[in-house]
Amino acid sequence: MATSRRDRADSYTKRAHKEGYPARSVYKLEEIQKTTRIIKPGDNVLDIGAAPGSWTLYTHRELLKGKGRIIAVDLNPLNLDPVPLTVTAFVGDAFSKDIRSLLVENGPYDAIISDVAPMTMGNRAVDTARSEYLTEQVVFLAKEHLKEHGNLVVKIFQGGGEVAIIKEMRTFFTKVKPFKPKACRDDSFEIYLIGLDKKRT
Ligand SMILES: C[S@@+](CC[C@H](N)C(=O)[O-])C[C@H]1O[C@@H](n2cnc3c(N)ncnc32)[C@H](O)[C@@H]1O
Repeated sequence: MATSRRDRADSYTKRAHKEGYPARSVYKLEEIQKTTRIIKPGDNVLDIGAAPGSWTLYTHRELLKGKGRIIAVDLNPLNLDPVPLTVTAFVGDAFSKDIRSLLVENGPYDAIISDVAPMTMGNRAVDTARSEYLTEQVVFLAKEHLKEHGNLVVKIFQGGGEVAIIKEMRTFFTKVKPFKPKACRDDSFEIYLIGLDKKRT
């Protein structure tokens, strides 16, 4: 019998719990990293929309292998105990003046990863518009503060706005591709935009 995305999502939740991750979203980053190597040991990584902390913890454990560091930012604190030594966490709006200047101070970055998402209202037009705004902000930050050859992965709710964002990303990445991990739920309209090998600016 075929396995639905919903069944797989539930098995991801159980696996996350067993492996000590606070959210099953970790398996989306795992799949992205396996398909396309975004992060390597020693990298300076920025994780935007990091809470509760699965992507941050996975990056620390599996990708940096003790070398490099992660700047993690979210409106909410990370739910990691302990917070790994490679992680510096900021709580607040990543795009506010104060937090943005802290992010800039800690850059430039080899990789920016962002699973950022708005609080959803259940109204697709409103939810996608808010997601597009957040994604755009991450892409602007990557344009300015990602190193040459750096990589970006950022979530967006598909509503049509992703077309213009992909077009913008193509101006400064060698390769850009949309990607939908198997770990996404069937009814989710999220996808990830991956930008590889930032061009010299
Ligand atoms: C899907 S969750 C991220 C899950 C995370 N990747 C993990 O694996 O644990 C999306 C996050 O984006 C955060 N977020 C939304 N808007 C934000 C903003 N302006 N600045 C910082 N974080 C934001 C939310 O607070 C939420 O924690």
